Amino acid sequence: MPMLQAINDRRAFRALDAKPIEKETLLRLVEAAHTAPSSLNNQPWRFVTVTDTEVLDTLRKTLSPGNYWALQAPAITAVVTNKAWGMTLGNRDFAPFELGMAAMAYQTQAVAEGLYVHPIAGFNVDEAKKILNIADEDTLMIMLVVGHPGDSSKLNEKHLESEKGKRIRLPLEKVHSFDTFTDQIKPQPK
Ligand SMILES: Cc1cc2nc3c(=O)[nH]c(=O)nc-3n(C[C@H](O)[C@H](O)[C@H](O)COP(=O)(O)O)c2cc1C
Repeated sequence: MPMLQAINDRRAFRALDAKPIEKETLLRLVEAAHTAPSSLNNQPWRFVTVTDTEVLDTLRKTLSPGNYWALQAPAITAVVTNKAWGMTLGNRDFAPFELGMAAMAYQTQAVAEGLYVHPIAGFNVDEAKKILNIADEDTLMIMLVVGHPGDSSKLNEKHLESEKGKRIRLPLEKVHSFDTFTDQIKPQPK
């Protein structure tokens, strides 16, 4: 599959099937994530993949109501970092940046596996950290909700529209300029 196609095919889809995913497949996603570049090769990422029914049940209780669609996912991967695990230069902490690159590689590999992966920030982070035995000082940045493509009929109207609709992005000229940071690419105040 051409790379740009795989990158393009990644969408934050929500119609997930409950069918279990083989551990070897889930490990390949982490293997892809673990190829990400990092300053000084610090590898400031850690992943906890939850497939155990009891742990999943407990973790599901931490989800925000808007993430109802994630309740039937057969696997959820917690993505963890700590600024101290990576390099810092001035105000630039590289660990979260590198974690993001790793998470993207995870998602791209999922496309190649025919799986959906949806990153979420909407969960009770303190409760989730307790359940997963993640230390207080570490950052549980996101969870990656993983599943085979499933039935979209249980999605609410807004989510159904997003599931079927085109990807929404600013035009390229609003986010990129050549040679200098033009006024045109300055983010508009919210
Ligand atoms: C850090 C992060 C947190 C997100 N949190 C949620 C979430 O809690 N619930 C949700 O439905 N989608 C969540 N998303 C998915 C975004 O809404 C989605 O990526 C965005 O709308 C762009 O759509 P696309 O990924 O299909 O291109 C999150 C994405 C990221 C990167």
